[in-house]
Amino acid sequence: MKKVTVLALMTAILFISVNAEEKKVEVQKGIKMPYMAFPMKQGKGMYSTKGKCNMCHSWGYVLNQGAQSKKFWRKKVIKMITVFQAPIKNKDIDEVVEYLYANYGNGKEN
Ligand code: HEC
Repeated sequence: MKKVTVLALMTAILFISVNAEEKKVEVQKGIKMPYMAFPMKQGKGMYSTKGKCNMCHSWGYVLNQGAQSKKFWRKKVIKMITVFQAPIKNKDIDEVVEYLYANYGNGKEN
């Protein structure tokens, strides 16, 4: 009698776990990520900046900051290089900062 109960219990557990596994697969198949486009303002240095800043995250990260000073943008570009190892050469920093400030600046140097 006891053996039958244990067997029934084990069968039930097996059935539940197999069922859970199937459901997990179903959910994973259904996920579709929406594509969000964040257009960049046209201007001198846009293509260079696009290539350097959009490889790890979207342009939305930049837009989220709002209008900022030149010093702010310089610090951000340097942070990306030193903290996150963005492959931006020293000679190209000025061009990117100029583009950011000209198009997303608040008119203040500091
Ligand atoms: C090597 C990858 C990489 C590149 C290239 C890169 N970033 Fe980032 N950036 C990051 C990571 C990682 C974060 C932090 C993400 C988070 O916290 O969710 C970030 C965050 C940001 C933020 C949000 C504020 C902050 O301080 O965290 C801004 C603004 C930003 N990046 C601007 C830029 C700009 C401008 C460029 C081009 C000069 C750039 N990023 C290039 C990796 C990169």
